Amino acid sequence: MQRLSLIQPDDWHLHLRDGEALRAVVGDSARQFARAVVMPNLDPPVTTVAEAEAYRRRILAALPKDSAFRPLMTLYLTDHTSEEEIQRAAAHPDIIGVKLYPSGATTNSAAGVTHIGRRDPVFAAMERHGLPLLVHGEVTDPAVDVFDREAVFIDTVLNPLLERFPDLPLVLEHVTTRQGVEFVGTAGARVAATLTAHHLLMNRNALFRGGLRPHHYCLPVLKRESHRQALLEAATSGDSRFFLGTDSAPHARRRKESACGCAGIYTAHAAMELYAEAFEQAGALDRLEAFASRNGPAFYGLPVNRQTITLVRESWRVPERYVLGADDLVPLRAGEELYWKLITP
Ligand code: NCD
Ligand code: ZN
Repeated sequence: MQRLSLIQPDDWHLHLRDGEALRAVVGDSARQFARAVVMPNLDPPVTTVAEAEAYRRRILAALPKDSAFRPLMTLYLTDHTSEEEIQRAAAHPDIIGVKLYPSGATTNSAAGVTHIGRRDPVFAAMERHGLPLLVHGEVTDPAVDVFDREAVFIDTVLNPLLERFPDLPLVLEHVTTRQGVEFVGTAGARVAATLTAHHLLMNRNALFRGGLRPHHYCLPVLKRESHRQALLEAATSGDSRFFLGTDSAPHARRRKESACGCAGIYTAHAAMELYAEAFEQAGALDRLEAFASRNGPAFYGLPVNRQTITLVRESWRVPERYVLGADDLVPLRAGEELYWKLITP
C-alpha cells in the first residue's frame, strides 16, 4: 500500500464559526492540523484583541480532550480599527494578522472596509510592526464581472497598496487566478498566497455539472480551467510563498440549498486527502510537504511542527452529511469516493 508521511501540516485560512457549529467542526481540523489561522468573520465580527482572546478560549473549550491544536487568531479590519489596536495585536502571541474584507465582498463582510485608501494609517502601523495583512482580494463593484473581481482588485487596490507600503507583509488569501499567481510571483518575499483544495481540484464547470450545484459555490468563485492550472503550478512549483489554506467554510445545508445560497465550501473533513489528490494529479506528491507544512511557518516566522501525519492510498466514501448543531452540513465530495485516507495515530 502506498503511504505518505508528512510533517504535520497547518491550515493558514480556516472558518470555525462559533457555538454549536464550532463544536461540530473543530475536531475535523484538529485531527489533521497542528495550527490554523482562524478567520474573524463571525456575526458580529472579531474586531479587537479582547474579542479575539475570548473567541480563542471558546475554540479551546470546544476541542476534543487532549488536543494540542493551536488556534492562531486574526482581527477583522473595519473603518474604525485604531492604530493602538494594531499595536496590541502585534504584541500578542496568539494573534497572527489582520483580515481585510472589502465591505460586501463575501459572507459576513458588511462590517469590512469601505474605502481602503482611508485606512493607510492602520496599514502603516502594520508595516511598522511587521503584522501581516490577510486579504480577501476581490473588488465589490457590481459592475465588475464576478469572474474578474480578483484580477481587478490586484490592479486597482493591491499593487497601489504595496507601492505605498512596500514592507507590509501581505497574504493574498485563497488565490484563484493566473493574475493572482503572477502578482505573488513578481512581488517580494513579504507577499504570499494561500491556496484552497477546492480551487486546485475544480474549475467553474463544477458549479453547473448537470444542474446548479450550490455546494460548489464559494468566494472567490471557481474560475476557468486555465486558472486552475496556474494555481496547481504555483502550489507545486516549490516557491515557498504559496501555502495551504483550506478556506473550509461550513454553512447549514438549508442556507446553501436556497433561492439565494450563501458562499462557502466545507473541506475540513478531508482537507489533506483532497490536497493529496490534487498534488497526485499534478505528479507532485513529493512537493506536498513543503506546501502544507513548511512554507506557511516560514512566512509567519513560526517553527515547523514536530509531529508527523500519515496518508494511505485507500478509498473511502465521504458521508452525505455531517451534523452541524441543529442543522446539517454537506461536505465537499458528499457521497463520493476519496482515494487518500488520513490514518489517525
Ligand atoms: C467564507 C465564509 O463562509 O465565511 N466563504 C467563502 O465562500 N469562502 C468567507 C470567505 O472566505 O470569503
Ligand atoms: Zn475564507
